Amino acid sequence: MQPNTIPTSELKDLFPGIQDSAGLVVPSHIFEQNDYDMPFALVMEQAAIAAICKHLRPKLLLEFGTAEGQGAFTLAANSPSDSRVITVDLADPNSYTERCLMGGALGTCFVNDPTVSGKIQQVLRRDPEGTPSALSALAGQFDLIHVDGDHSYHGVEVDTDCAIQLGRQDTYFLWHDYYAFLDDGKQPTLSRGVYPYLNDLQARGDITLRHILGTYIVIGHRSWTEDTPGTIVQPGELPYPYGERIVRLWETGRVDAVNRP
Ligand SMILES: C[S@@+](CC[C@H](N)C(=O)[O-])C[C@H]1O[C@@H](n2cnc3c(N)ncnc32)[C@H](O)[C@@H]1O
Repeated sequence: MQPNTIPTSELKDLFPGIQDSAGLVVPSHIFEQNDYDMPFALVMEQAAIAAICKHLRPKLLLEFGTAEGQGAFTLAANSPSDSRVITVDLADPNSYTERCLMGGALGTCFVNDPTVSGKIQQVLRRDPEGTPSALSALAGQFDLIHVDGDHSYHGVEVDTDCAIQLGRQDTYFLWHDYYAFLDDGKQPTLSRGVYPYLNDLQARGDITLRHILGTYIVIGHRSWTEDTPGTIVQPGELPYPYGERIVRLWETGRVDAVNRP
């Protein structure tokens, strides 16, 4: 398996004081998640995204990959009242879209919720390769960009290039589904590009990346230096509960546990 090169950090070390952002809001739709092969953001991940929004107070947010809109809900519900969230999905849904929707529709989690619906704009992308025209005019204005669309290597690369182009030096970038898979031949054919892509991005050194402890989320910031707190943990480094099926970095538990004899 490709070794992990992205250090794992605790949110409170990346953002001192983040634990004081009282009152996080997460979507109740997390309780409808029932297909554990699907890459939905789990409770701790929703809480991490919510806390980052409360702490950073981003004004303009962008998300690639709307699906039912759990992520867009969290971005909107935890950012300031005058913030705006743009969430992008495919104009021509494919079978992966259908699986992500679990019988629902794009944006189900926010379209009828008056607390957030006015802050969220949906963009449907006809060309999965290019920058949607609705976004080009906003280049340089995004404070936070969440990449959670096509999880193939090429897909995450295209969306990340687009995100970095649209961002600024001080924009924060999030990627969901950073986990490694054991090559045991028993996996379903889900896309698995986030882990190898982000390790390659890390190697290029243009942006400092940290995996957030307790989640499958990686956060990036161009102004962070290599001194940014973090410890490199390898998937499967500790015996339990790894190795059954999908080795997920969040299951590696406390960072300092890795250094125990
Ligand atoms: C894992 S789901 C997103 C989950 C969502 N962020 C949430 O928190 O509920 C992936 C979504 O990305 C969409 N997608 C796939 N390729 C895409 C692309 N090139 N651009 C934007 N969205 C894409 C799929 O249609 C699907 O709805």
